[in-house]
Amino acid sequence: MKFITNISLVCLCLMLGLFLLPSCKKNTDQVPQNTCDTNNMTFSKDMTPIFKNNCLGCHSKAQYDASGIMNLESYAMVKLYLDNDYHADGIYGSKLMHIIEQNGSVPNMPPSYKLSTCEISKIQAWINQKAKEN
Ligand code: HEC
Repeated sequence: MKFITNISLVCLCLMLGLFLLPSCKKNTDQVPQNTCDTNNMTFSKDMTPIFKNNCLGCHSKAQYDASGIMNLESYAMVKLYLDNDYHADGIYGSKLMHIIEQNGSVPNMPPSYKLSTCEISKIQAWINQKAKEN
């Protein structure tokens, strides 16, 4: 009798586990998208961390001084790039967006992988909100 109870307990746990595991996975997959806050984006608060983690290895001020590559630490330089950026479609900031969305018409940035959906949404939101510094 005791043996049977133990077996049932083990089965119950296994079933619970099977039931809970996939739902846990689903939740963590959904959380980043649902919680991607794109309100009131600013260069200092929101763009700097994304650029720092993904771009400044190549696009720092030091690299700019050495080689003239675009300096993504500088708000003034990013803003100037945006102000001249209407790409082929006439939409403000669309060249930068094509570059990070990696859709083939311009260089892919970062060159070896793609930013997350949330990071890309934040950059697009920042541009739509007039690319403010603070
Ligand atoms: C591994 C080095 C490297 C990383 C990381 C990198 N870039 Fe670049 N980027 C380059 C190089 C080299 C160029 C210039 C040559 C070219 O256009 O391909 C460039 C050019 C650019 C340009 C100018 C394209 C033009 O001519 O209009 C933009 C905008 C840009 N990168 C944005 C970014 C952003 C945003 C990130 C991070 C999300 C990033 N890059 C990450 C190396 C890098």
